[in-house]
Amino acid sequence: MRTHRVAYLPGDGIGPEVCAVARRCVDAAGAGSGFAVKWDAQLVGGAAIDAVGEALPLATLDACRAADAVLLGAVGGPTWDDPSAPIRPEDALLGLRSELELFANLRPVVAHPALDHASPLRPEVRAGADLLIVRELTGGLYFGRPQGRSTDDGVETVVDTLRYTRPEIERIVELAFELASGRRGRLTSVDKANVLASSRLWREVVDEIAPRHPSVTVEHALVDSTAYLVLTQPTAYDVIVTENLFGDILSDEAAAIAGSLGLLASASLGARSTDHGRFGLFEPVHGSAPAIAGQGLANPLATVASATLMLRLSLGETDAADALDAAIDAAIETGPRTADLGGSDGTEAVASFLLERIGQPVEVPA
Ligand code: NAD
Ligand code: IPM
Ligand code: MN
Repeated sequence: MRTHRVAYLPGDGIGPEVCAVARRCVDAAGAGSGFAVKWDAQLVGGAAIDAVGEALPLATLDACRAADAVLLGAVGGPTWDDPSAPIRPEDALLGLRSELELFANLRPVVAHPALDHASPLRPEVRAGADLLIVRELTGGLYFGRPQGRSTDDGVETVVDTLRYTRPEIERIVELAFELASGRRGRLTSVDKANVLASSRLWREVVDEIAPRHPSVTVEHALVDSTAYLVLTQPTAYDVIVTENLFGDILSDEAAAIAGSLGLLASASLGARSTDHGRFGLFEPVHGSAPAIAGQGLANPLATVASATLMLRLSLGETDAADALDAAIDAAIETGPRTADLGGSDGTEAVASFLLERIGQPVEVPA
């Protein structure tokens, strides 16, 4: 029996609830496909601050380094939101991304026709939308230094720094071109080149790399108008590549195309290879959803879909990934629905539906 080692970081809020569902689904798919996952459960975020006084304990980081992949729920919540607190749960996520050099965050967004009722977009606007946001994840405003708060000449002052090096831009743009050439061959590079120096270098790099990918049509677009157009003409997009903060904002916005933030999965990848693919951290795009935490109401599909990406990209378990994707599609079409999708079912009802489906053979479309 094949075994894979996955660091399991449920975190805070709804994180443990949705991760548990994804874990059960992966175990069920593994039983059907002849592999087992050794889950290495570790503390992260607020849960780790409460237990050991650190958001990202060394044991957690070591477990991630030793694993083939990481499955993470969410970090953060009102308990740890004091702006003057010296440690924040979110530091754990940033620490993982930088320490594991996960520079590329892939966030697919698909408009499933069965969810027309859940999206604020008109059915004819969202029909056929299928985009991939490629977010740079280890640079930009999140990591630039100096950062912080001081008193300069008696005036309270804060600073954040938007810093990129050319190689950091080159590696994410190159990956985005490769991904676009494997899809519909359209790449939109999103920036704020009318204002930011970092964006002007970003444009230069995109234009330099473009000739190496003649099958890809590339366009530059400004982030403000893209924020509008992605909702008014979502089918105009295939792959979007953009810097860290723009990608964070645009991907939550794009969840409106899918119908709920509770659907969007993500894969964070670096350069390191595993035996069967690329090492990565897999987590839903959404956060810890404190208002619904602990009530069995969270939609687990984003995390299950993240686990599917893990099976595909890091563990090389394509059959199991297909089985999970088929179960997710069936759940969207005919299964129970949580409140974010307009239903009144709970997390467990969705879990049971998925588990029952995963045992069944995958129907291959003709
Ligand atoms: P959020 O994504 O947690 O919630 C936004 C909205 O979507 C809320 O109305 C929430 O109830 C709903 N929602 C999110 N996921 C859902 C799901 N699976 N099922 C049903 N409804 C769902 O964003 P927020 O409220 O701005 O942030 C809450 C906390 O989460 C903050 O502390 C933030 O820092 C943290 N956060 C963590 C991550 C992460 O760990 N990757 C990502 C985003 C936010
Ligand atoms: C995300 C989250 C994180 C981010 C936060 C929690 C640090 O919003 O993964 O999208 O901003 O990257
Ligand atoms: Mn975000």
